[in-house]
Amino acid sequence: METLKAIQKRHSVRRFLEIPIKQQDLNKILKAASQAPTSANIITTRIIVVTNQEKKEQIAKACLNQTWITQAPVVLVLCSDIESIKDIYKKRAEFYATQNATVTAQNILIAATDLKIGSCFVSAFTNLPLQKTLKLPKHLKPQVVIPLGYSDDKKTKKRRERLQHMLFFEEFGKRTKSSIFPLKKHIKIK
Ligand SMILES: Cc1cc2nc3c(=O)[nH]c(=O)nc-3n(C[C@H](O)[C@H](O)[C@H](O)COP(=O)(O)O)c2cc1C
Repeated sequence: METLKAIQKRHSVRRFLEIPIKQQDLNKILKAASQAPTSANIITTRIIVVTNQEKKEQIAKACLNQTWITQAPVVLVLCSDIESIKDIYKKRAEFYATQNATVTAQNILIAATDLKIGSCFVSAFTNLPLQKTLKLPKHLKPQVVIPLGYSDDKKTKKRRERLQHMLFFEEFGKRTKSSIFPLKKHIKIK
C-alpha cells in the first residue's frame, strides 16, 4: 500500500476477528517500530509483545476496563526508559522519552494498516497494574498500549474535517488563505 493511502486508511479498530497475526507480519510491524526517529539516536522505547490471554485481560483491566483489548491477538505495550537519557536531557528527558515512544507508536499504526491489520492507540491506563503485569522495572514507564488484529469492525467511520482546526499560517490565530497551501475559504476561529 502506498504510504499516504495507509495514513488515510488508518483508523482506530476496537473489534477484532479471532485470527492470529502472521509472525512475518508482526516482524514487519516491529521492524517499522524500530525505524522511527529517536532523540539523539538513543533508544529509549521498549516494546513488550503480549499474546498471553491472561496478561491481555490484566492489561485491559489496567486500561480502565477496556475489555475489547482482550480480543486482539497481539497487544504491544510501549514503555520508555527515561533513565537512559536523564544525564543528557535532565528535565527534558521525560518529554523526549514520551515523544520517542509516540513516534514509534505511529510507525506501528501505519505499518499495521499497510498490512491490513487493525490497531488502536490506547493510553487511558493506570501505570501500576501495567507495571505489575509486565514486570516492568521502576525506570520503565508505560506509554502506549497498541492492540493489533484483523478488524471485525463493520462500520465505516467518516472522519470529520480536522485540518481547519489544526492549521494556522505564520503565527497562531492566522487562518487566512495561503498561496502556498490554499484552503477553500477563510475559516473562523472558534
Ligand atoms: C493520546 C491518545 C490516547 C488514546 N487513548 C485511547 C484509549 O485509551 N482508548 C481508545 O479506545 N482509544 C484511544 N485513543 C484513540 C482515539 O480515540 C482515536 O484516535 C480518535 O477517536 C480518532 O479516531 P481515529 O483513530 O479512528 O482517527 C487514543 C488516541 C490518542 C492519540
